[in-house]
Amino acid sequence: MRIIKKIDDLKKELFTLMGKKIGLIPTMGYIHEGHLSLIEQSIRENDINVVSIFVNPSQFGPNEDFNAYPRDMERDSKLLEERRVDILFSPDSGEMYPENFSTFVEVEKLSKVLCGRSRPIHFRGVCTVVLKLFNIVKPENVYFGAKDAQQAVIIKRMKEDLNLDISIKVMPIVRDEDGLALSSRNKYLSKEEREAALLMPEALKEANMLINNGLFEANKIREKIVRELKKNKCIKIDYVEIVNLKTLESLDKIDNNNTLVAVAIKLGETRLIDNFILGEI
Ligand code: PAF
Repeated sequence: MRIIKKIDDLKKELFTLMGKKIGLIPTMGYIHEGHLSLIEQSIRENDINVVSIFVNPSQFGPNEDFNAYPRDMERDSKLLEERRVDILFSPDSGEMYPENFSTFVEVEKLSKVLCGRSRPIHFRGVCTVVLKLFNIVKPENVYFGAKDAQQAVIIKRMKEDLNLDISIKVMPIVRDEDGLALSSRNKYLSKEEREAALLMPEALKEANMLINNGLFEANKIREKIVRELKKNKCIKIDYVEIVNLKTLESLDKIDNNNTLVAVAIKLGETRLIDNFILGEI
């Protein structure tokens, strides 16, 4: 595996691989099984696999966890090497955002709801860095996890709106044995917080079962999830929302083919999200 830190070096390397099908897995590192499932899919579908590790400052608000975000490049590169990733691209901030950088990409509306309410600049930062990565790597296929469902919906919108010749692949959520969706931020949780966090996947599972049994009224499903989450006092609910999978607008009636049931909670300083999807992003 080649570890490349400079954009020009990566472009030169990729130039020598012209004609090969390139898969890109953008990450912020602290690689877990969720990332590895994206990498495995990319390896199945592409000739060359590029993983980027970049903790992107522009997607963190001023009071968020940019500095604390877990980083372990040595462990990450070992894991990627083992999986036979071809290129690890790990630029520093100055490389991605040189002095005088002033262009940002904003997907309107979709970026303002759900996580966008409490993280107003988040998706602008995500879209900007992702578009930069698309332009640098020029991949055929790019892989994202369904845990960040809103991110995937927004990136797909950006792809359509800006006519990007890229295929966006959204892979299923990977969970720990206890049901918690894998996230680099799980590392922050104390034992008690982790126990509390489990109410989120449990509440979602029950909600999914109710829908499978024919309950389609969104407010009833939403109330059920809120009730479950309120069973633990450590949990601060950011939102529980049932929305159309394409427009992210609230639904009254659940549509079996086009619904996102999404939850965000805070446990102490740690913000966690989870969801289930009826249909395809
Ligand atoms: O999902 C993430 O890890 C990040 O938002 C991404 C897509 C790598 C952009 O920084």
